[in-house]
Amino acid sequence: MTRFRIGDRGRPPEHWGSALGFVLAASGSAVGLGNLWGFAYRASQGGGAAFVLLYLLIVLLVCLPVLVAEMVLGRSTGHAPLLAPVTAGGRRWAPLGWLYMAAATGILSYYAVLMGWTGRTLLHALADGLPGDMAAAQTFFASISSGGDAVLGHLLSLALTGVVVAAGIRGGIERLSRWGMPLLFLMLLGLLLWASTLPETAAGYRTFLLRWDAAKLLDPATIRNAFTQAFFSIGTGIGAILAYAAYLERRSPIPREAASVVAMDTAVGLMAGCVTFPVVASFGLGDVVSGSTVGTLFIALPTGLASLGLSGRLVAVVFFALAYIAAITSAVSLLEVPTSSLMDRLGWSRRRTTWLLVLLIAVLGLPSALDVGVLERMDAVFGGVVLISGGLGLALLLGWGAPARFLQDLRQSGSSDALVRPLLWALRWLSPPAITVGLVVSVLDLARSWSG
Ligand code: PHE
Repeated sequence: MTRFRIGDRGRPPEHWGSALGFVLAASGSAVGLGNLWGFAYRASQGGGAAFVLLYLLIVLLVCLPVLVAEMVLGRSTGHAPLLAPVTAGGRRWAPLGWLYMAAATGILSYYAVLMGWTGRTLLHALADGLPGDMAAAQTFFASISSGGDAVLGHLLSLALTGVVVAAGIRGGIERLSRWGMPLLFLMLLGLLLWASTLPETAAGYRTFLLRWDAAKLLDPATIRNAFTQAFFSIGTGIGAILAYAAYLERRSPIPREAASVVAMDTAVGLMAGCVTFPVVASFGLGDVVSGSTVGTLFIALPTGLASLGLSGRLVAVVFFALAYIAAITSAVSLLEVPTSSLMDRLGWSRRRTTWLLVLLIAVLGLPSALDVGVLERMDAVFGGVVLISGGLGLALLLGWGAPARFLQDLRQSGSSDALVRPLLWALRWLSPPAITVGLVVSVLDLARSWSG
């Protein structure tokens, strides 16, 4: 199999500085606002432990094989997400490449808005302190999530993302992940220890992890939440990891790397839940959480922390700083999808491609910046249905369309048959039917919630 490499106008093709650099960048893509903001609000919508269990099962049995397939597709073709499916499976797979472009662009357009809210909350906690009570927190959230403030936060966050992507794989994305990911982990560990000392920690863990209701396993809303959370959080199905894997060396052990990414992402999701839920329980904020959706993190957390005075303010600063780091390491992977694709397809330079896309996405994100309702719908469509469809496409392409490529790439890089065979089996027989069920339930549940 000959391999193509994405180049930048005659410069040598880019690649990761080290295997660890790739794993950190891929984990940076996975760990994001999905783990902090999404996990908190989806887990609080009533699923309890059934939601967590479904989410874990989907991650392990469905997302992990798809993630391996996504990495194989990137590495074995050396092409960016737009052209990789065609290279592997022929012309009829071209729509999958376009789906990746649309999904990554669509997600980034509202993700940058969420980053703006995060940055704004961080600055407020640093400079002015926290809102004194719930009403003040709600007023503050309303002010940052609409109008000029929201637009400004969106534009600045996109620009920052552009700076990193324009600096390239090694000099931008890998460098950011190398210091960002360890720092994030340390901060989260600190917060976890702090949260374990709160008065209602046990009650918080109980609502989040231990409230078991078997009927919830069949509840469509819980199923949709679990699928969306699994795919969004791992970030597989829209070519972000594919784009990163195209810069990968021949010999790196993909299954092990995929497992590290999944482990890191799941650990951060669970750890974040073990921080937010004790805060919510300790300060009697349960109603805010189940009543609101996107606002949970930005209203409940600052309100709870405000009553602790200076130490609460410090915790808020650490929390929102770590959320911003998590967000930007994900945003760069989303921007890398269309950037590398246009470089690959049209031979444009990295810098020019990045800034043109930043401009386009800035405009596309305006409706979400100005209206939270639009943002929620964008998330349900792009972060849910489209992303899950991309995962299905991947499983079908490498499981059924080009299984020889899957086997050959993994064997050549030293993976044993004892590992590769079950992975291929899961990709053929487990992932497609499971994702189809998830997709159908999600679309029906979404239609119901929109019409109701
Ligand atoms: N996984 C990221 C998060 O949890 C978001 C993301 C989705 C990144 C899809 C890349 C691809 O926030």
